[in-house]
Amino acid sequence: MKTINDFVKMKKEEEPIVMLTAYDYISAKFCEENSVDMILVGDSLGMVVYGENNTLNVTVDDIIRHCKAVRNGAPNTFVIADMPYKSYHLDERETKNNAFRMILEGKADCVKLEGGSQSRLKAIENIVDCEIPVMGHLGLTPQSIVKFGGFKVQGKHEEQRNIIYEQAIAVEKAGAFMLVLECVPEELGLAISKELSIPTIGIGAGRYTDGQVLVWHDMMGLSSQITKFSKMWENISLPMNSSISGYVKDVKNKSFPEEKNVYYPIDERK
Ligand code: KIV
Repeated sequence: MKTINDFVKMKKEEEPIVMLTAYDYISAKFCEENSVDMILVGDSLGMVVYGENNTLNVTVDDIIRHCKAVRNGAPNTFVIADMPYKSYHLDERETKNNAFRMILEGKADCVKLEGGSQSRLKAIENIVDCEIPVMGHLGLTPQSIVKFGGFKVQGKHEEQRNIIYEQAIAVEKAGAFMLVLECVPEELGLAISKELSIPTIGIGAGRYTDGQVLVWHDMMGLSSQITKFSKMWENISLPMNSSISGYVKDVKNKSFPEEKNVYYPIDERK
């Protein structure tokens, strides 16, 4: 399994880091079989798996349950557990306890949390102090959508770009080992990646971050929306639809099951 040191080395050697979200055993297995460097059990879970409009209702128990399944499917891949909304916002003890649960019960290798305000930096420090590696997340942080007024690209204006840039430096100083940059201008993705010594992972942050992350369902053609920054190498919704419609048709017209699918079939020739 790759370690934090390997990711730093990859940045130094300019080898792009590949991260993909996964939420269950089978998708994690596919990730491991295809040498994905790191798997994120993201709180996007709430939207793509549970059909919610945002990520705010995902719980620590939800992430732990899905992390366990992912670990079973990918025993040798670095797994990141996303800290959900309200799991690191209250007090130090609760923040630490939730992070410990992600590692001990969820079997994750590290946790990720969103934001770069003073209290978020404190949360990063507190978790790192428990020997738990932390990944930061800046730009479009989905847990802030009410404040942002929706899922909107961040850093379009210089003032906002400067804030994100300064927060990125502060997140590294607080002890994060990696930083996700979501939906920011390419120029900002490049500037932060050059400035930081920890690796950056982009999603909608352009071509110059140290790695990329995509959401499984977007990449596979299983999301209801098509996002500009994502890519579908194959649209697996097409074979999925044709399998289901084939099954429905064959049961309805009584061509499934066939004799070969039956245990101890009745011999109709007798
Ligand atoms: O929850 C998630 O999937 C994420 C990625 C979009 C980075 O945080």
